Amino acid sequence: MSALYTSALRPLMFCMPPEAAHDLAKITLRSRFPWSLAKMRKVTGLERLRCKAGGLELASPLGLAAGFDKNAEALPGLDQLGFGYLTVGSILPSPRAGNRKPRLLRLPEKESLLNCYGLPSAGLDDCAVRLERFSRQPRRSRVIANIDSPDVDSYMRSFRRIEPHVDAIEIGTQCPNNTDGHGEFHAATSFEQLLKAILAVRRKPVFVKILPYANETERQGRLELAGLATHYGVDGITMPGSWREQEPRLSLGYGQTSGHMIFPRTLATIRELYGVTRGRIAIKANGGVFTGEEAFQALAAGADTVEVLTSLVYRGWNVAAQINAELIAALDSRGLRDVRELRAQLPA
Ligand SMILES: Cc1cc2nc3c(=O)[nH]c(=O)nc-3n(C[C@H](O)[C@H](O)[C@H](O)COP(=O)(O)O)c2cc1C
Repeated sequence: MSALYTSALRPLMFCMPPEAAHDLAKITLRSRFPWSLAKMRKVTGLERLRCKAGGLELASPLGLAAGFDKNAEALPGLDQLGFGYLTVGSILPSPRAGNRKPRLLRLPEKESLLNCYGLPSAGLDDCAVRLERFSRQPRRSRVIANIDSPDVDSYMRSFRRIEPHVDAIEIGTQCPNNTDGHGEFHAATSFEQLLKAILAVRRKPVFVKILPYANETERQGRLELAGLATHYGVDGITMPGSWREQEPRLSLGYGQTSGHMIFPRTLATIRELYGVTRGRIAIKANGGVFTGEEAFQALAAGADTVEVLTSLVYRGWNVAAQINAELIAALDSRGLRDVRELRAQLPA
C-alpha cells in the first residue's frame, strides 16, 4: 500500500503546488470509505502499544500533530488510519486567512517541509459544529483540539465551546509565523495567567504546545514554561524540534522547518523537557518522526506519545500503520513486552 503511494500517487501529488495537494488529500479523507479498508487493522500485537498519556487512554502512542486537519474536516478518514489520537487545529476564535501564498514548500531531498501558514482557520463556530458532529460517531482515535488565541478571554471562549466535543485540549501558544503580534504567552506571567484560567474550569486533559527556541535565552524561557506547566498540573506538553529558515520562495521570506531534518533536535528537546518534568506530566514528541525506530528512540528519551505530520505527506496514508508495526518490531528487538515496560525504564 505504501509502495503504491510513494511510487505512483506521491509523484502525481508532488506535481501539484504543496498546498493544493494538501487540500486534495483532506477532501479524500472527508469520508470513512475507502480508508476503512486500510491495512491498520491487520497490524498484529497492537495491544502492546496501548498506553496512557496525560490521563488519555490511547490505542497507540502515535498521534497526528496539529496543522494537517486545521478545521476538523478530515476526521472520518483520518480515524481509520491507525493513529492513537488526532490533533485538529489550530482553531482560532474567528475565521482567519493566514499569510499570503506561497506558504508551504517541499524539500524532497530532505523529506522535509517549510511553512509560513500563519494560522489560517475556519474559526471557532465552524470547527465546533464539525467536532460536535464527529463526537457523536463511533471512533477509533482520540481527538485533541489545538486552540490558539490572542488573549485569555478568547481562549476561554474557544475552550468552553470546544472541550465538550473532544477528548482533550491542546493550548497553542502562538504560531511562529504569526505576523500580527506573537509570543505573548511565552512570557511566564501571561502563561501562568492563561494556565490558571483554563485549569480552573477544565474537565478533560489539557496539553500545552510551546514554540521551539531560537537561542539560549529562549531555551531557558521555554524550560521555565515547562516547569510552570508541571507545577500547575497541566497534563502534557510538547515542543517541536523545529526552527525558522530563510527561504525566498515563501511569501514571508522564511518558514518553519518540519520533517526528517529536525528529528535530531526533536530528540534533544524531549531530553530537555524530561529533565524538567521528570515523568510528572506527559511529553508529546513532535518533529521529524518517520519510522518505528525513531518513535522508539523518542519514547526511550522520555516521550509518552509521538506525533507526526510531515511523514504523512511523504509516506502516505499507511504511515501510522507502518510506524505502529515497526514500533512493535523495535520492542521485540530489545526484548520489551510493551510500551508501558519501555516507559517504566525511564528514571524518575
Ligand atoms: C503544513 C503545516 C501546518 C502546520 N500547522 C500548524 C498549526 O496550525 N498549529 C500548530 O500548532 N502546528 C502546526 N504545524 C506544526 C506541526 O504540528 C508540527 O509541530 C511540525 O510539523 C513538526 O512535526 P513533523 O516534523 O512531524 O511535521 C504545522 C506544520 C506544517 C508542516
